[in-house]
Amino acid sequence: MTSPFIEVSQLRCHFKSGENYLAAVDGVNLQIGAGEVLGLVGESGSGKSTLGRIIVGLQARSAGTVCIDGKDMPQHYSRRQFREMSTKVQMVFQDSYASLNPRMTILASLQEPLWSLGVRGKAALDKAMYWLDRVGLPRSAGERYPHELSGGQRQRIGIARAFIAEPQLVICDEPVSALDVSVQAQIINLLQELQREHNTAMLFIAHDLAVVRFLASRTAVMYLGEIVEIGPTAAVFESPRHPYTVKLLAAHLDGNPRERVLGSLADVKAVANKAPLASDSGCRFAPRCQLAIAACCEGPPRLLPSLVDTEVACHRLALIEEGSSQIELLSEKE
Ligand SMILES: Nc1ncnc2c1ncn2[C@@H]1O[C@H](COP(=O)(O)OP(=O)(O)OP(=O)(O)O)[C@@H](O)[C@H]1O
Ligand code: SF4
Ligand SMILES: [Mg+2]
Repeated sequence: MTSPFIEVSQLRCHFKSGENYLAAVDGVNLQIGAGEVLGLVGESGSGKSTLGRIIVGLQARSAGTVCIDGKDMPQHYSRRQFREMSTKVQMVFQDSYASLNPRMTILASLQEPLWSLGVRGKAALDKAMYWLDRVGLPRSAGERYPHELSGGQRQRIGIARAFIAEPQLVICDEPVSALDVSVQAQIINLLQELQREHNTAMLFIAHDLAVVRFLASRTAVMYLGEIVEIGPTAAVFESPRHPYTVKLLAAHLDGNPRERVLGSLADVKAVANKAPLASDSGCRFAPRCQLAIAACCEGPPRLLPSLVDTEVACHRLALIEEGSSQIELLSEKE
């Protein structure tokens, strides 16, 4: 990858949880190139939103560095820094209603990001009108308030607001999961069109693996605050190496024989609550992993290159790669 637009190194974010600290993000290294779409998947609570919120400046980090467009960002953004960063990085939220001011008309909401950049008057109004058209809404929608629009229409406004100031990166955090299935595909197509039109880099966070597979050129898999597998989307989906990636795919796919083998593994969600906290040493996936051995608990695995061009954090990667596939290895254990 030529110089990445975003580079995060050893990123950590710990929240106090009773007597302990919960490592929502724990030592993440990540790069996103200009115009690249990186998918981010992982079950609920794995730290995906926290990672996105740190990059966009809505959440302070506990440690690590965030470099945006060649510039190191401070741990806490001042108002000026936040405004400056907003010209480069924007976010589309799951809850489109909460992301819009209920007392502002749609037209005013659309112009707001421009006003904060000093673009006002007719220039801002024309641009807002253009974006109403571009996201497929009638101009009359501009006079309405958020509660007068459907969820799909509001998300179109959320997307227009994110793109209107021409940022270089848009972080989409579950942008369609609150919408009717009937409108999800339209919104996904719109996001893909805009991403391609403007060559905008994207961090696309989603539970829906099919959507990530469709949109993202690279995919990262997150488990309890750590990236456990990352690489080209096709390789991650077709040749998953990390036992957690295999389980995650199994939980979402069914139908053909390969998927049936995976589907017979322990239910991912049923054991999710046994998740260890940050103080535990070794591989965090060990309590749920069918390939775990004592050595897995002795130290955290690092991301290492696999034979399929991905990087995988697993002490037993060599063993997994020795077999023809991870899937066969796991099925032997059934
Ligand atoms: N402000 C906060 N204070 C305390 N704990 C938090 C806070 N924000 C997130 N967490 C915790 O950090 C962990 C990661 O949360 P996060 O929302 O980033 O996960 P996620 O992967 O986005 O989950 P989901 O798929 O459900 O959206 C969770 O255990 C969550 O409860
Ligand atoms: S390091 Fe061990 S416990 Fe962790 S995923 Fe690999 S085999 Fe499983
Ligand atoms: Mg989230």
